Amino acid sequence: MNLLLQGGWVVTADRLEQADVAVAGEKIAAVGPDLAAPGAQVRDVSGRYILPGVIDAHVHYQMPVGNLFTADDWFTGTRLAACGGVTTVIDYAEPVSPGEPLLAALSRRRAEAGDLACVDFSLHQVVLAGQEEDTVGLKAVVGEGVASFKVFTTYNQRLSPAAIGRLLQQARNLGALVTVHCEDHEMITMKRRELEAAGQTDPAYHAVSRPAAVEVKAIQDLIQKAGEADAPVYIVHVSTGSGAAAIAAARSRGQEVYGETCPHYLLLTAERYAGPESRLFLMCPPLRTAADNEILWQHLAAGGLQVVATDHCSYSRSQKATGTAFYNTPSGVPGTETLLPLLYSYGVRSGWLTLPQLVRVLSTNPARLFGLYPRKGCLAPGSDADLVIFDPRRQVTLTAAGLHSAAGYTVFEGFSLQGYPEATYLRGQLIYDQGHFLGQAGWGRFIPGQVVPGGQDLLK
Ligand code: URP
Ligand code: ZN
Ligand code: ZN
Repeated sequence: MNLLLQGGWVVTADRLEQADVAVAGEKIAAVGPDLAAPGAQVRDVSGRYILPGVIDAHVHYQMPVGNLFTADDWFTGTRLAACGGVTTVIDYAEPVSPGEPLLAALSRRRAEAGDLACVDFSLHQVVLAGQEEDTVGLKAVVGEGVASFKVFTTYNQRLSPAAIGRLLQQARNLGALVTVHCEDHEMITMKRRELEAAGQTDPAYHAVSRPAAVEVKAIQDLIQKAGEADAPVYIVHVSTGSGAAAIAAARSRGQEVYGETCPHYLLLTAERYAGPESRLFLMCPPLRTAADNEILWQHLAAGGLQVVATDHCSYSRSQKATGTAFYNTPSGVPGTETLLPLLYSYGVRSGWLTLPQLVRVLSTNPARLFGLYPRKGCLAPGSDADLVIFDPRRQVTLTAAGLHSAAGYTVFEGFSLQGYPEATYLRGQLIYDQGHFLGQAGWGRFIPGQVVPGGQDLLK
């Protein structure tokens, strides 16, 4: 045994108990009361929670967009993850064009991360138009550790409804999960034309340009397609109460539909687009209303949504300032570092979620859905010793200066938190302790996702 975390409260997906955690090498060796570990380094964690490392299932590091790259690269993105209690991130392997073979895109993206990642990582495979017919390529990337595909219903990368249907069938045969950015492209195009004709193109019109119905229609259409294909489907960054309700309704009819939301959709509203800093809050889909915030919390609490991830897609103020209109402003915000403390303060302390639910939506559910469980997302003997020591008494006011993103700002500036990560262990190694990053570029490893053939409910 090398490490004994003594006297803390262990939180798992189904319980909260006072227990010690013993670590041997990279793995959890034992969890239980009054463990003896002769020769091990002992850390007193009384009064603190011990959680399985958080998995941020939706990040974009050094992503090319036009002639820019997102501000956080594999090093700064995974360093800030460690500082926020996140021990695994899932980014995207996106072909540069439909002509780039899927396997080549996957290898390129793995190589980019290789020497830079400070926490473990996995990859969703983006599938572009036509590639949904590449049965051999899809099978090959699954064989290399891809458990999920990603498609868009808008942007240049969009797939037609028929192509999405074909991919759903391929994925079902392979046991992989299709994840989808849901916004209706035709509705977006029409609305943009209307606003351009009226001269209303300032970033302040961003939310008006993509009303709730844009997301809801795309979600409803997708649920229908997934039902026809008899395939599970996962909807990323759900921003609307009605979108979440459509997912919950499909699930209650027995359909295997999963939904992810993000802290900004739970905690911020479109009023942020009124100020001079509207560009900094511009992401797709846009922020909504306080009523949407509340309905998203309700569905998260009731199990209608299963994952909270961040869609960490950071741009600096100067990158954001290159935008002259809502449609050409770099879209996305940073978020990984504040994921756990925000969900604890505004989810658990506000009474929406229990501690085991917090662990489910931030760690266990993404691990199961993306083929990483029980190596990740599980605090039990044999799992990787990815652990967060969380101090529920620590009071923090969020400021960009206290965070580590190359964006240089946070959309949660001034938010009061009670509870903050004290320390983070990655496979038994201390990588963050009381404000200090102790990890290293290259310590993060690619973790292959393992598919679950047969398409049974991935959370059971
Ligand atoms: O605006 C956003 N969300 N940018 C990141 C890419 C995406 O759509 O997830
Ligand atoms: Zn998206
Ligand atoms: Zn995204």
